[in-house]
Amino acid sequence: MPALPRHVAIIMDGNGRWAEARGLPRIKGHRSGAESVRAVTRHAARRGLEQLTLFAFSTENWKRPAREVTYLWRLLRRYLIEERGEMMENGIRLDAIGRIDGIPRYVQDALAETKAITAGNRKMTLCLALNYGGRVELVDAARRLAADAVAGRIAPDAIDEAALEARLYQPAAPPLDLLVRTAGEQRVSNFLLWQLSYAELCTVDTAWPDFREDELDAVLAEYGTRERRFGGLVRK
Ligand code: IPE
Ligand code: IPE
Ligand code: MG
Repeated sequence: MPALPRHVAIIMDGNGRWAEARGLPRIKGHRSGAESVRAVTRHAARRGLEQLTLFAFSTENWKRPAREVTYLWRLLRRYLIEERGEMMENGIRLDAIGRIDGIPRYVQDALAETKAITAGNRKMTLCLALNYGGRVELVDAARRLAADAVAGRIAPDAIDEAALEARLYQPAAPPLDLLVRTAGEQRVSNFLLWQLSYAELCTVDTAWPDFREDELDAVLAEYGTRERRFGGLVRK
């Protein structure tokens, strides 16, 4: 059996291009992308991943037209409410990373409720990155470290990797094994900068609305062929 990643993160890209290629408004791509979220999440849990982290809205996505931004948040709210049954059926615990206090109140409320309802589920964690930026996550961790240092809870000399990691948004997450990006782009776009240090990377040309069970199986199979060395030598 090829190795299965414990933690997979996906940059869900290409919704807009998928729609434009069909002569549809961009928001139709987002709507169809929400179906992929449902299918891929369910399949990831069944395959046995411990965590699936999905990049849903970046700190940079506020630059988009207000109409598109509003549509995305409304879609997310609807998803958070409608998926509760599906999450309970599949043992999925919802979590979120990002500057959650900067997202619309009506999304924060739905998020808090879905997190509370699913908190006892153990099969897989679905983590949504919302108003998330990798640099901002490090800034927020630095702020927490500075506050702890000023309060005398940690000495500057005692700050090590574990101390910084403990102040990230989700310190107990399993180590990130695989980053997938859809729609052919070869960049990280400010996602999970700390966590990516030794993750395997896999980019696929498929746009997110067309990324479903078979496409997830394909990247998991690709991961199974990778040889991870972490700077050391492979034991023969
Ligand atoms: C990804 O699709 C969804 C979000 C970033 C919210 P895009 O909307 O970025 O689609 P493209 O890249 O313009 O095709
Ligand atoms: C990354 O996609 C953000 C999300 C998937 C939420 P973008 O479409 O925003 O990234 P760029 O602008 O192409 O780098
Ligand atoms: Mg994009």
